[in-house]
Amino acid sequence: MAKRPLLVGNWKMHGDGGDLAVIVAIGEAARRHPAVDVALCVPATLIDRARRVCAGLAIGGQDCHAEPNGAHTGDISASMLREAGASLVLLGHSERRHDHHEDDALIAAKLRAARAAGLEVVLCVGETAEDHAAGRSAAVVQEQLTRSLAGAGGPGIAIAYEPVWAIGGDLTPEPTEVAAMAGLIRDTVLGVRVLYGGSVTPDNGAALFAQGGIDGFLVGRQSLEADAFTAILKLMDVPTR
Ligand code: PGA
Repeated sequence: MAKRPLLVGNWKMHGDGGDLAVIVAIGEAARRHPAVDVALCVPATLIDRARRVCAGLAIGGQDCHAEPNGAHTGDISASMLREAGASLVLLGHSERRHDHHEDDALIAAKLRAARAAGLEVVLCVGETAEDHAAGRSAAVVQEQLTRSLAGAGGPGIAIAYEPVWAIGGDLTPEPTEVAAMAGLIRDTVLGVRVLYGGSVTPDNGAALFAQGGIDGFLVGRQSLEADAFTAILKLMDVPTR
């Protein structure tokens, strides 16, 4: 059975109180498309305000610590995100894996902490350009999945396939390539929703959604602008799927 589509925006280190109108507009669009689950992962400073200005939209964090509290200057725990009003968290984003040297074992610990705090998790996996060129994409993704999930799975967890080489530029894989990876993810982890992320736009979204064998998208840049994000949401609201 097809799963409910899920659209997740990732604002990364963008956004302040001056951007609440964008969040309100996205919330209104989400209410016009109740067949699609919509979430926005904002900076931690915006979670509470985002939660207050809109219903119909889940608000998420972008990372959490593996411990519930402690001497970890600058970090934030899963229960703190939850208390601030988040209902989900991104984990294992390539910008965390690479810029912050997060390995699969750490991501698995964060995932356990997030689930224990009652947060849903969008776990990101994906190969680098080098792995892609060497034909190692499937092996890399399978290993990341197995090690980062460490046995977790099912409802409450979505997997975002985000090839590192497709993030933040203008390259995307062919829909058939995405479909093959979505199949591999579903064979490896039962019962999860599978998203694609990496340079998704209103222009390339329709083909990726129709032919990519996915349940939705994780969107970076195009989630910062209500019109573009809404256009992606609209193309996902297809009742015949
Ligand atoms: P992008 O980012 O849509 O700007 O490529 C995606 C992501 O990093 O999740």
